[in-house]
Amino acid sequence: MLSIKDLSVSVENREILSGISCDFDLGRNYCILWKNGSGKSSLAMTLMWHPKYNVMSWEITLDWENLLDLSPDKRAKLWIFLAFQNIPEIPWVKLFEFLKWVYDNSVKTTTFMEFKKLIEPIFEELQLSKDFLWRDLNVWFSGWERRKLEILQMKLLNPKYIILDEIDSWLDVDAFKVVAEMLKALSTDQNSFIIITHIFTILDYISIDETLVLDHWKIVEQWWWEIATRIKENWFKK
Ligand SMILES: Nc1ncnc2c1ncn2[C@@H]1O[C@H](COP(=O)(O)OP(=O)(O)OP(=O)(O)O)[C@@H](O)[C@H]1O
Ligand SMILES: [Mg+2]
Repeated sequence: MLSIKDLSVSVENREILSGISCDFDLGRNYCILWKNGSGKSSLAMTLMWHPKYNVMSWEITLDWENLLDLSPDKRAKLWIFLAFQNIPEIPWVKLFEFLKWVYDNSVKTTTFMEFKKLIEPIFEELQLSKDFLWRDLNVWFSGWERRKLEILQMKLLNPKYIILDEIDSWLDVDAFKVVAEMLKALSTDQNSFIIITHIFTILDYISIDETLVLDHWKIVEQWWWEIATRIKENWFKK
């Protein structure tokens, strides 16, 4: 279980999140809803670690291990994965090197050839050219290509807690459908999706067990998936 207790986060002496408590059980899917600028991405980033965020919390635990003591790579090793709202570019790091490093450090050590054999079929499956392996990570990649690479990492690493921060951003309608189908295929009772969205369409593909609604940085409603439908039809204000 991924458990957040009384989480407060500030940036540059301004409070972004205040007193958030929630639990995410493995095998259940969650949806986080609220307005632009309410702190959803900050919550996602805090779970993975962010250099600018000053975290004041009793604890964030995953199966009783305190995440706040761990660097982001160690958190990733505990099988938390974040699909970014704004996917960063990292010049000078080749995609192949990045993926191999991540795989070797979290699953098992491979030789160059072993990893090549492992990764190339996933590239074919995602209809990504193998030339991408030798390009700088995400640099000049289209939004669709960046998203495909996130799916590729999910397939490669098989994380348990998968945070999707507005997975629909960067994608046109057709590309979104393909991504949504892929995510649906990845959803099992051995993982949990934590979905941050404004668009709701993703919820047609991944069934939600619980919805959390934030207001003024606090969770104001925590209910079953029906609330997502209610907000979709009646908006937040109503
Ligand atoms: N690194 C940062 N430095 C300064 N301010 C930040 C930083 N990260 C977030 N904030 C501020 O915290 C607030 C919450 O931002 P956040 O991106 O978490 O909102 P959000 O709910 O994800 O919004 P959206 O729905 O538009 O993606 C905003 O006012 C934002 O400007
Ligand atoms: Mg956001």
